[in-house]
Amino acid sequence: MDIDTPAADTATSTARIIKHARPQISDESIQMPWVEKYRPSSLEELVAHEDIVSILTRLIDNDNLPHLLLYGPPGTGKTSTIVAAAKRMYGSTAAYSSMALELNASDSRGIDVVRNEIKEFAGTRQLFKSGIKLIILDEADAMTSDAQFALRRVIEKHTKNARFCLICNYVNKIIPALQSRCTRFRFAPLQVDQIRSRLLEVADAEKVNYTDDGINSILSLSAGDMRRVLNLLQSTAMSSDVVNEKNVYMTSGAPLPKDVEQILEWLLNLDFKQAYGKLVHICVTKGYALTDVLADLGTAVVGMEFPPHVLAVLLDGMSDVEHRLAFGADEKLQAASLVGVFVQARTVMKIKCV
Ligand SMILES: Nc1ncnc2c1ncn2[C@@H]1O[C@H](COP(=O)(O)OP(=O)(O)OP(=O)(O)O)[C@@H](O)[C@H]1O
Ligand SMILES: [Mg+2]
Repeated sequence: MDIDTPAADTATSTARIIKHARPQISDESIQMPWVEKYRPSSLEELVAHEDIVSILTRLIDNDNLPHLLLYGPPGTGKTSTIVAAAKRMYGSTAAYSSMALELNASDSRGIDVVRNEIKEFAGTRQLFKSGIKLIILDEADAMTSDAQFALRRVIEKHTKNARFCLICNYVNKIIPALQSRCTRFRFAPLQVDQIRSRLLEVADAEKVNYTDDGINSILSLSAGDMRRVLNLLQSTAMSSDVVNEKNVYMTSGAPLPKDVEQILEWLLNLDFKQAYGKLVHICVTKGYALTDVLADLGTAVVGMEFPPHVLAVLLDGMSDVEHRLAFGADEKLQAASLVGVFVQARTVMKIKCV
C-alpha cells in the first residue's frame, strides 16, 4: 500500500488517496458479497457490543446458556453473534450442523413448522452425544402469532435439552409471554469509530483505493448499519476506481450534502414557482428520490435555528409529505407540496416578526 503525498500541507483530505495495486477481479471475488466474506466467524472478531459478547462467552463456557432474544436494527450483528456463539458451543462444523437448527423468514414458520419441525428437532436426543441443542429462529418478528403462542409451550417442554434463540428487529412484535421466557439483548446501532476500524480493515484487505472523504461519506450514510457499510464499499469499489465522496453518493443514490444545502437555500429564499422548478430539475437530473432529499432536509432543518413555531410548521408539513410519499403519491405533486410547506413556514415567520 502506498500513500499519495499531498501536493501541499494544506491539501484537503480529498487529495489524499490511499492507493493499492488493484488485483484482477476473479470470478470468485465477484460472486462473494463482502458482507458474507467478512462475516465474523468468532465472537472475538465482532466489533462493538463488548458487553453482550462477554456475557454470552461466559454463559457458553459455563454451560449455562438461557433462551435468548436478540433484537435491534438491521446490520448490527445479531445473526453473526449467534452463529459465532454456536460455533463456540459446538466447535466443529459437523457438530454444529447436527446440534443447531436455523430457521429464518425464508422458511415458512407458521404453526405447522413449530408443531412439526421445531418440536421434532428439539425432542430427539442423540444417542451418543450429550449437550444442548440450539434452535435459532431468525427474523422471529415475521412469525405468525399462532406460531408464537405454540412456541411458548414447546420452549418450556424442551428446556432440558434445547435452547431457543429468537432474533428480530422489532421486539414489540414478539408476544410478551415469549419475551419473558428469554434473556433479552439489545443490539444498538454501531458507533462510527467501531465501524471505521472494520471498514478500513476490509478496504485494505480488498485493496480498495479510497479517500478520507469517501470513507467519511460511507460512515455518514451508514446509520450504524455494518451491512450497509460493506455493501456500499463494495458497490462503489466495483463501479469506480476510487472510493471518494462523489462516487459513494452516486452509487448510493443519496443526495450530495452540498446539493441538499442548495435545495434548502432555494426553499428558504425563492418564490414558489422558481423553487419548485429548481427542486424538480435537480431531482430529475441527479436521479434523487424525493424521500431521500426530504430525510436530509429534515436533519438540516432541525439543526438550524428556527423559532419553535416555525420549526413546528416545517416538521409537521414535511412529515405529511413523507407519509404521502410512503404510500405511493406522485413525486412531482409532493415536491410542490414540500415547497408549499416552506412558503407557509416563511409566512408564519413574517407574521410573527411583524
Ligand atoms: N458487530 C459487527 N462486527 C463485525 N461485522 C459486523 C457486525 N455487525 C454486522 N457486521 C457485518 O454486517 C453483516 C450483517 O450482519 P448480521 O447479519 O449479523 O446483521 P443482523 O443484525 O442479523 O441484521 P438483520 O436484522 O438485518 O438480520 C455481517 O455479515 C458482517 O459482515
Ligand atoms: Mg440477521
